[in-house]
Amino acid sequence: MADLSIDFCSIQSPNPFWLASGPPTNTGDQIKRAFDRGWGGAVWKTLGNPVKNVNSRYAAMSKGRNKIIGLNNIELITDRGLSINLQEMGEVKKAYPENAVVASIMADSFAEWQELIARVEQTGADGIELNFSCPHGMCERGLGSAIGQEPAVAEKITRWARECSSLPIIVKLTPNVADINEQGMAAVAGDAHGVALINTIKSIIGVDLDDFIPYPKLRNGSTNGGYCGPAVKPIALHMVASLNRNPDFSLPVSGIGGITNWQDAAEFLALGCSTVQVCTAVMHHGFGIIDEMIKGLSVYLSEMNMESVAELRGRALPHYKDWAELDMNYKVVATIDEDKCIGCGKCYTACQDGAYQALALSRKTTKEGKPIPTVLGDRCTGCNLCSLVCPVECIAMVDVSESDEIESWNEIVARGKFVVKDGLSSTESTKSIA
Ligand SMILES: Cc1cc2nc3c(=O)[nH]c(=O)nc-3n(C[C@H](O)[C@H](O)[C@H](O)COP(=O)(O)O)c2cc1C
Ligand code: SF4
Ligand code: SF4
Repeated sequence: MADLSIDFCSIQSPNPFWLASGPPTNTGDQIKRAFDRGWGGAVWKTLGNPVKNVNSRYAAMSKGRNKIIGLNNIELITDRGLSINLQEMGEVKKAYPENAVVASIMADSFAEWQELIARVEQTGADGIELNFSCPHGMCERGLGSAIGQEPAVAEKITRWARECSSLPIIVKLTPNVADINEQGMAAVAGDAHGVALINTIKSIIGVDLDDFIPYPKLRNGSTNGGYCGPAVKPIALHMVASLNRNPDFSLPVSGIGGITNWQDAAEFLALGCSTVQVCTAVMHHGFGIIDEMIKGLSVYLSEMNMESVAELRGRALPHYKDWAELDMNYKVVATIDEDKCIGCGKCYTACQDGAYQALALSRKTTKEGKPIPTVLGDRCTGCNLCSLVCPVECIAMVDVSESDEIESWNEIVARGKFVVKDGLSSTESTKSIA
């Protein structure tokens, strides 16, 4: 059996699956139940001066029976007292010495950061996560993402935390920025031990068209919230990959955002994360999803002949390239399995109106007399759209490359093989993007 245990910034955990700071980590009782079920670690719901929350606070994007493909929340940090949180944190750590217990914290001044860190240290917690990333409510008070969005401030507070604490310091980054690398490099400059990302994405999930109040509704109004859940996974994957392929960035990364099953987690690990954190999926399905996560990852690692999680880390990074490094000689075209086609016409409409007019309605029909589309090979750009919309998955993209030679755009330009023929008159005839 593969070894699932991990070392993240010198914090040990029996597996890479941690609960992210949020409602599932609001109390010691919840975290104990999660550890009993198999979760490797937990980042406590952010501590600070307790706040007053609004009452209605979540809203979701649904798709058919999947009730939460994206979750929007306007919740603040913990609204429970600091002493009770810290007391429970100490109890959890004592009862579960093998599990990782990390305190997420947020404060307003050097004195507050200093006191909070000192009090957290007394609990025996394994590490501290600095919340520089909450994008609603707290940022309006100059905290959360207001700090993450100012790399110089983030660096300074990270350094304060390092000076005040002997524990590993993890900085939680906000996705509400143009380039995640600026925050990542601020964490490096502030001497953090690691980073965690992403926190939620600033969002308005929808508007009630009868009374024009956005969701979640609070009698006469609402506000922008933070978006998370399965819908944000692609954004989170890009951000962790962007950091992990940055040669100047060297910190361990805890990946967060839309993780629901072991495959999602494995993708974050393959893009260079050491651990993963989960919030929305637990809010939706409960702590029990860990059973499948642990089993699935163990079996996968064994099948891939990997002995540990560390062997999976970063395996996808060499394959994440700049566009200009992609193989321009690779060519695929759509092929339709006529026996499986139900003649719905979805692919034809999509290609006709939204792609490259490479499908024709032939005389061939299904048993029910509906036309089966035919691919016009020379017009097909291999864009994949038809295969994405086909409801019975009977369209395959087939490799018809004429050459095995891999040739990138950069190489084409370097060899002077691409000449701009009908472009802007001010453009040089050989185009270079180097
Ligand atoms: C209701 C709710 C409350 C949250 N509270 C916190 C918090 O107090 N501190 C924090 O760092 N992140 C908080 N988060 C963000 C999560 O930790 C996580 O970064 C985000 O939800 C993305 O992960 P997910 O897609 O698995 O939910 C919260 C998320 C939700 C949905
Ligand atoms: S791959 Fe794109 S261009 Fe080719 S048939 Fe499908 S939709 Fe049309
Ligand atoms: S979408 Fe699929 S099932 Fe529908 S017509 Fe096209 S190939 Fe056939």
